[in-house]
Formats: sequence, C-alpha cells, structure tokens
Amino acid sequence: TPVRPPPVKVDADDVDDGRKRVTIFFGTQTGTAEGFAKSMAEEARARYEKAVFKVVDLDDYAQEDEEYEEKLKKETVVLFFLATYGDGEPTDNAARFYKWFSEGKEKEVWLKDLKYGVFGLGNRQYEHFNKVAKVVDELLQEQGGKRLVPVGLGDDDQCIEDDFTAWKELVWPELDQLLRDDDDTTGASTPYTAAIPEYRVVFIDKSDLSFEDRSWTLANGTGVIDAQHPCRANVAVRKELHKPTSDRSCIHLEFDISGTGLKYETGDHVGVYSENSIETVEEAEKLLGLSPDTVFSIHADAEDGSPRKGGGSLAPPFPSPCTLRTALLRYADILNPPKKAALLALASHASDPAEAERLRFLASPAGKDEYSQWITASQRSLLEVMAAFPSAKPPLGVFFAAIAPRLQPRFYSISSSPKRMLEVVDGSIQNSCNLCISLRAFTNRKDPPRSLFNMDEVEYSEECSWAPIFVRQSNFKLPADPSTPIIMIGPGTGFAPFRGFLQERLALKNSGMELGTSILFFGCRNRSMDYIYEDELQNFIQEGALSELIVAFSREGPTKEYVQHKMVEKATEIWNIISQGGYIYVCGDAKGMAKDVHRVLHTIVQKQGSFDNSKTESYVKSLQMEGRYLRDVW
Ligand code: 2AM
Repeated sequence: TPVRPPPVKVDADDVDDGRKRVTIFFGTQTGTAEGFAKSMAEEARARYEKAVFKVVDLDDYAQEDEEYEEKLKKETVVLFFLATYGDGEPTDNAARFYKWFSEGKEKEVWLKDLKYGVFGLGNRQYEHFNKVAKVVDELLQEQGGKRLVPVGLGDDDQCIEDDFTAWKELVWPELDQLLRDDDDTTGASTPYTAAIPEYRVVFIDKSDLSFEDRSWTLANGTGVIDAQHPCRANVAVRKELHKPTSDRSCIHLEFDISGTGLKYETGDHVGVYSENSIETVEEAEKLLGLSPDTVFSIHADAEDGSPRKGGGSLAPPFPSPCTLRTALLRYADILNPPKKAALLALASHASDPAEAERLRFLASPAGKDEYSQWITASQRSLLEVMAAFPSAKPPLGVFFAAIAPRLQPRFYSISSSPKRMLEVVDGSIQNSCNLCISLRAFTNRKDPPRSLFNMDEVEYSEECSWAPIFVRQSNFKLPADPSTPIIMIGPGTGFAPFRGFLQERLALKNSGMELGTSILFFGCRNRSMDYIYEDELQNFIQEGALSELIVAFSREGPTKEYVQHKMVEKATEIWNIISQGGYIYVCGDAKGMAKDVHRVLHTIVQKQGSFDNSKTESYVKSLQMEGRYLRDVW
C-alpha cells in the first residue's frame, strides 16, 4: 500500500478568509519581550474582534533565510518586540533573523506593502542602547516599509513596563485606521483591562504512588545539551581567589564535565542554573499558605488540550508533576523586584481591600514615583513585597504565570581552555570547565533581611556540589593563526576568558607552534587583596604564552589607575599591533570600563594614525567589522 503523506497541519489563523492580519514578532531572552508581544496581542484581539493577531517567535517563523523573505513579503502589518543584549547583540532566538536582515539584503525596496512598528527592550546604561530595535526599525524603512510609530526605546534601567504602555498608546490610533471596519463597534472606546494570565494547575494526591518528581530532565550522555536540556555537572574545585585582607569575594569554580557530553571552545560562555536557598523557599511557602510537599502538575493548555483563551504557547512553564518545594527552589524568581503586572495580579487575590488598593496604586501611573522608590530603587524582592501584603494569597496557576518569573540561568565567560593539558586524577582524565565568579557585595543594603534573600544562588553556597549547566557559543575567539599579535584588556573577573586564551596559547606553544606577541592589561584594587591568579600569570609569562603583563592598581596610590590609563602609556605598542593586523579583546563591565576603554582606543588610533574624527570612527568600526576588535562585556 502506498504510504499516505501525513496530513498537512493548517493553522486556522493562516487560512486567508479575508480577515486583516497582524503578525507580532518577538526576540526574547528572559521572556519580557515575549510577554509584551503576547499582552499586546491580547489587548488587540479585544479591540479588533475581526482581525487576526499572531504572536511569533522569530526563530520559529522561518527555517531558512529565503523563507524569511518569502513570508515577510506577504505580511501587511507587523510589530516587532526586540531585546538588545550585551554588546549590542540580539537575543539568541532573533540572531538568525537579525543577521540575515542586517547583512543579507541589498538596500532595495521590497517591503512596499508593509506597515510596521518596533519596540525595543534595552538598558540606557549600556553603550548600544536598544541597538537591535533601532537597526531593524531603520532597515525596515530603508527597504520600503511604512513606519507606523517611532521606534519604542524601552529602558530597563527605569520602568520598561511604562515605556511599553506609552508606546502602545501610540500604536492604537494607527491600528484603528488600518483595522477598524465601519461595522466594527469594538475599539479604543471600549476600556480594556488586561486579563491576568493563569496556568491550569492540577493537585495530585501524594498517596498516589504513580507520582514521580519530574523536575530536571538532565541531558547527560544524550545528544543535545542546551538551555532546555542542561546537563548535571559536579563541582570539582571551589577556591577563594581574593586574599584574606580583601573584604570582597571572588570564587574560582571548576565543573567536572568528563563523561557529560558537554563540549566547549575557548571563549564560550556557560549558563548555570542556580537554586533559591531553603530559607527563601520556606518563606515563600509560608506566604503562599501552602505546604512544601504539595504535589501538582502545571499546564499551559485547557483541559481538553486546546490553547488557553488568548492563545499563547502550549508549553508548560516547567516539567511537572513536582512538589511545591521543587518548583520554588528551581523555577521561581522570587528575589528580583516584582513588575507592575505582578502587583496587579497580587492585588486581584488580596482579601484585604486596603492592600489591594495599595497594590493597584503602586502599579498605576499615579503611583509611578512610589513604585520606583519603594520597589526599583530599594531593590525590594518579590518575597518582601508579598510579606508586606500578607492578605494576598494568589493561587499557584497565577503565581507562576503572572507573579514570579521563571528563574533564569546566569551566564559566565569560561575561564579555561579545552586544549590545555588535562589533569589525570585517580587514573582517569579529568576534563573541567572553569569559571571565575565575583560575588555581589551587599554592604550598601539598608534593610537587613534582604541580604539573606539575595545571597543564595546555588553557586554561592558552600554546600553546592553540582548544578545544571549548558554552553552558549560566543564569537570571542583567538585569531585562527596563533602568530597574529593580540591585546587583551580584562580587569577583575574580566580576566576570565583570557585565562582560557592563555591556556590555549600555552598548549599551542607546547605543540610546537610559533606564537605572536600578546599583551594583557589587567586591573584590580590592590596587590595584596584582589590580584587574582597572580601566580598563574607569572607562569604564563615564564612559559612564553604571554609576552607582557601590565597591571593597573586602582587603590594603591593617591590616584586611581585603571587599565585605560595604562593603555595610554602603551599607545605606540597598541598601535603597532593593531596596524599590523593584530586583534584587540575587551572583557568585563560594560557600563563603565568597556565604555572608557572604547573611548581611549579611539584617542590612541586618532593620535597614532594622525586621523581626523571621522577617519578615526571608521577605522575603529572597520576593526569591529573585521572581527579584530572583540568584546565580551556584561
Ligand atoms: P575601583 O573599584 O577601585 O574603582 C576591577 O574591578 C578593577 O576595575 C578595579 O580596580 C576597579 O577599580 C576597576 N574599575 C572600576 N571602574 C572602572 C572603569 N570605568 N574603567 C576601568 N577600570 C575600572
């Protein structure tokens, strides 16, 4: 019998039934852009009952570049929610689209029929504030699209929810023009109150023996290891790097990855899932009024398997059934300040009307200043806010959907090289992936209980013996030819990837390769406190992996000495290396250091090359375009 082709799955929303369509794209890392896209769609559906609104993950939209082109050509109205990360980079799920859109297309006009709006999510403290949104907004216009509203510049340093609300208000009148039929009576005149999202939760009787805690599905030994499928890695080594005189802490951590299947390259990042501390979780259980061994399963779809009202993803937020204890330990971000939407969700479950009113006020435009003072500026955690409103007892479905965001992995630059000589421990080769983690300082906290609440991620705790981890590739890589000269700038924990670089160079040298010159600019406060990896650095010099080490001590002399001051002293050497085709790498703090180093690099190029301003700009730009000026900043 002939094999029948599988039935083609047709999405009801894709059938051309003459209804007007709007596609809402999102590029999201931690879920904020996705949340905005969904809430925009939900409100739009309430306003324009006859139009179709589709929310699409940019990665899912097309498998190949040509498909992006083909599909985009057919769109008429699109909205983009795009976050910018690190050094002006797109989120992982927008990277392919962004690369294709910003590089591939010639500046031809091919989007004549497209009307669009772009909302960006970024942080003004960073140099490339909302770069991705700005670039996409510009390119859409250059390629013929009609911009409906100015690009929205959401600023997470202030209140990004307010920026989103303000931008939405600009979008509605435009959509009114485009979507409102004469007989459509819905629209802006109908006041809209956003529904509070909720997962479907089913409580499971503990005496049911079939219960099995399905919390982490760990990917050890299987094919893919990624953010959704981390692998379990044991902590093999944990060492304090600061000297006893230091009042701060910086930890050297080694994850044993032998036999896990995890692979990385020098310069990659590792994502680490951390857990909340037991104390924090106990507090949350009390506030929710539920016992820690409550067993439940959580679902994003309705009981009959259909999508929830308003659409949205069918994927559950985390694997279940599990106990409340597990869910709170692993999946609930309860220590960051709550968003305004979370306050509204809490309000709707507060039995004391005064508390409900106060929560609504804090989330309202009138309560803007108080929200920013009482919550943002004082970094008040969700737990503390819940403790201040004890009558608010949200059900679990609401708590996980609208109040506590999912706990995100933390990313660290890997501070080792897989090419280094591996140690033999007990007769077997131990491969590890090293990190260097600076612990947050809590000295400036006014309110004592919070320090306890915040200091409890798993990698910080002494007892921590393992964590779910995965690797994220980066383009922070050594030149392909090891004889190319390099400059590395990495004060503090910014040294991390350079430790990997130097290990790799040492391995290359030992295998007989010729190495080019290398200069490292390192910076710390004081030689006797936080000069981390001092012995290893001396060793890299002796072994010839590092040609020159320059250290700026910021708190030894009467004036601050930073890496960029040392760069000025070495201007000719830096210029020689760059103009001979060398590479320059910067790693560390983006808001201060990398910005200042960037400026100083311009000054050096301008002086040494005797360039005018615009030649200097274009010279540094071209270094970046050629991939010879690379930054790993956060
Ligand atoms: P400071 O703390 O004394 O100001 C590693 O954290 C080193 O980076 C420290 O010596 C720190 O100095 C220094 N640092 C702080 N801000 C910097 C900046 N904008 N540029 C370069 N280095 C900086």
